[in-house]
Amino acid sequence: MNWLKDLVTQTGQAGGCAPARMLRRPQFWRKLLIGLVVLAIYALFFGTAQAQEYPVHAVQNIFAPTSLPAESLAFLSKLVLAICAGVFVIVGGLLTYGIIRYRRRGPEDDATEPPQVYGSTAIELAWTVPPILIVVVLVLVTARVIGEINGFQPLGNNEQVRIIGHRFWWEVRYPRYQVVTANEIHVPLNDRTQPAATQLILESADVAHGFWVPKLAGKSWLVPNYRNQLWIKPFQKGIYLGNCTVLCGPQHANMLIRVVVQAPDDYNRWLDNQQKATVEDPNVAEGRKAFVQNTCGTCHRIQNVAGADGTFGPDLTHFMSRETLGAGVAPNDKEHLRSWLKDPQTLKPGCLMPNMKLDDQEIDLILAFLRTLK
Ligand code: CUA
Repeated sequence: MNWLKDLVTQTGQAGGCAPARMLRRPQFWRKLLIGLVVLAIYALFFGTAQAQEYPVHAVQNIFAPTSLPAESLAFLSKLVLAICAGVFVIVGGLLTYGIIRYRRRGPEDDATEPPQVYGSTAIELAWTVPPILIVVVLVLVTARVIGEINGFQPLGNNEQVRIIGHRFWWEVRYPRYQVVTANEIHVPLNDRTQPAATQLILESADVAHGFWVPKLAGKSWLVPNYRNQLWIKPFQKGIYLGNCTVLCGPQHANMLIRVVVQAPDDYNRWLDNQQKATVEDPNVAEGRKAFVQNTCGTCHRIQNVAGADGTFGPDLTHFMSRETLGAGVAPNDKEHLRSWLKDPQTLKPGCLMPNMKLDDQEIDLILAFLRTLK
């Protein structure tokens, strides 16, 4: 262990400089400890309070994946973190040992320079060989994960979802079934015995956006005039939240994603419903008329409603099958829908739907009509 002593001796000149004096004071350590405890308590409470207050905005944990390729990414992240933590403990430990063991203990300490070591093969090997091995291991593992993600070849039995980013919502299309919806992406649970990935094709209608659902897959950009691709193989049912990750305008932070992973039966039932024609409820004929007369249909499409074929805003054909409004900013209930119709800028300031200045009677009629679009 002579080389270790040599190594420490070279860093052992802490002496009586200001930082060393500070480290010797007990008050410093007491204050540091109190600070860390306060920070930990704050993080614990603030973190859980945020998550409970509004589940839509809950932060998703990248270390609890429920799908491939997120699982491979989480494994890689943990491996890199573990290796880095090991390096940190060894280097930090040696440094701390040197500072404490060879500190200046008083005025009677001799202040001459300790013996200098040059050309020690053992020391040179110690700090070159392990780092090279670490880098080689990280390169190999990372290359394997990248290869697994990028090497995906769509097969005939893969579900396919086209996701088109708009300011500030997501258009979702299922080309095989002629289904169009928005913001809530339904996908089937992956069967581990017959693995079939769901392919996500990512496009943009205006500016660059980013698609990230941390528990399912890594991030990907949505770039105008370009097609990106992701794939997922979710192995746990549930609702997974995500965000737009590229600053795209004032409501970028509220461009929320919900991915609903369903058992194949439930997924097929959902698809069947989405493929059904709109119910024509005679009780809301007035509302349908008000919808078209107020030019809502220039931006929103509703199947089988003449004058409602816009594509600038979300398709509303099966509007009530969605749980949220305004790309996830509020639950899709009567109160929030009324507020949205009165002025969308209240729930989502800066969104591209203007205040249509509807009077209360028109709002009631349109609200009743929209609530029938199951
Ligand atoms: Cu879309 Cu940020």
